[in-house]
Amino acid sequence: MSNKECDDSMPQLNEELKTKKDKYKVLKLLGKGGFGAVYSVQRLSDSQMLAIKCEKADAVKKSLFMDCNVLKGAAEIKSHHFCALTDRAAVKDRFNFIVMKMIGRNLWDLRLDMPDHRFTLGTALKTAAQCLVSIEELHRFGYLHRDIKPGNFAAGRKETKELHIIYMLDFGLCREYVKRREGKIRMQRSSAPFRGTTRYAPLASMMELDIGRKDDIESWLYMVVEWTSGQLIWHKYRSQDRDKVLQYKKDLREKPEVQDNFLAHCPKKEYLRIFKYLETLGFYSSPDYKFIFYCIQHAASANNIKDKDPLDWDPETPYSGPNDPPGDGNVINLDVERIQMASSAEVSLGTDKMKTMMKKD
Ligand SMILES: Nc1ncnc2c1ncn2[C@@H]1O[C@H](COP(=O)(O)OP(=O)(O)OP(=O)(O)O)[C@@H](O)[C@H]1O
Ligand SMILES: [Mg+2]
Repeated sequence: MSNKECDDSMPQLNEELKTKKDKYKVLKLLGKGGFGAVYSVQRLSDSQMLAIKCEKADAVKKSLFMDCNVLKGAAEIKSHHFCALTDRAAVKDRFNFIVMKMIGRNLWDLRLDMPDHRFTLGTALKTAAQCLVSIEELHRFGYLHRDIKPGNFAAGRKETKELHIIYMLDFGLCREYVKRREGKIRMQRSSAPFRGTTRYAPLASMMELDIGRKDDIESWLYMVVEWTSGQLIWHKYRSQDRDKVLQYKKDLREKPEVQDNFLAHCPKKEYLRIFKYLETLGFYSSPDYKFIFYCIQHAASANNIKDKDPLDWDPETPYSGPNDPPGDGNVINLDVERIQMASSAEVSLGTDKMKTMMKKD
C-alpha cells in the first residue's frame, strides 16, 4: 500500500469527525504504524485534547478491536499505565477509529534526544520498573502484548503533570492467553508465525514458537538494555536479517563474551540475573515480576540512584512517578492457580529468596 493511498482515506488535518457522543477536530499526525495512524484531536464539546487511533476500513489485518478490548480491560483494573478509552466510531468506507487520552513522546524518541543515545542509569531503571509494572498488569487481565518495544511506551504530557508516568501503547498484536470461560491458560500451539519487531522479539518468537508471558519480559529486557547502554549488539540488522539477530540471541545464552558486549554500560550482575531467571521459565510459567522488580531496585541502590532523582526529559523536577512494585501476575477473575503452580512453582523464585541471594553478593 502506498503512502498516497493511505493518506487519501485516512483523516485529513482540520477534518471534523463525528461520533454518537461528540465531534472531534483532527489536529496533527502523532505516529504512523504498520496498520494505521494516530492523530491528536480536539473534542469540540469541551476543547479537550485527545488522541485517535485509526485503521483503514479495508485493512487486511484488523487489529483496532484488540486495542479497544485491551483498553477496556485496563480500565477495569484502574491502572496508571494505560490510556482511558473514551469513544469510538467508523467513517464509512474510509477508517475506523478509537478516541483515547492523549499522552506525550514515546520512549524511542526520548532516548534519541540523549547524548550517546542512552538514558542515564536512573532514568533507564525508573522507566524499566514502570514498564514492568504495566506488563504485569496487562498479563493480569489476560493478554500478552507480543510487541514490547520503545515506540510502544510513552511518557505522559507536561500539560497534565504526567511527565513522570509511563504509558503502554499499541495492543494490535496482543493475544488473550487465557480461556476465560474455562479459567485455563490456552494450550501452547506447536508453532506460530513470527510477529512483532525483529530487534526486540524474544528468541522463541523468532524460532516461530508460540510465546508466553516470559517472552514479553524478554523483549522488555532487550529494550531496557538498549536504554541503558545506547544500543543492542544486533542494532545494525533489520528485519531482513532476522537470522543474524536470531543467532545473536542464541549466542547470548551460551557465550559469556557475547553477554559482556551485550551488557556494556549496564548493571551487569542484576541484568544478567534477570536474563538467567527468564531462561528458567517455560511457556506456561507465571513470571515472578516482583523478583525482576527487586533486581532493578537493587541495580539502582548499588549505583547510588535515589528515588527522587529526576528523569532525563524533566531534569529540573524531582521524580514523582509511581514506585510501586508489580503484582503477582495472578490472572483476575480466573481460576488458574493450579496451572500456574504446576508449571512454575519449581522455577519461580520468591522475593524473600531473591533478597537473600542479593545480600550474599
Ligand atoms: N494516546 C496517544 N497519545 C499520544 N501519542 C500516541 C498515542 N497513541 C499512540 N501515539 C503515538 O503514535 C505512535 C504509534 O502508535 P501505535 O504504536 O499505537 O500505532 P501502530 O500503528 O500500531 O504503530 P506501529 O505499527 O509502529 O507499532 C506511538 O509510538 C506514539 O508515539
Ligand atoms: Mg506501535
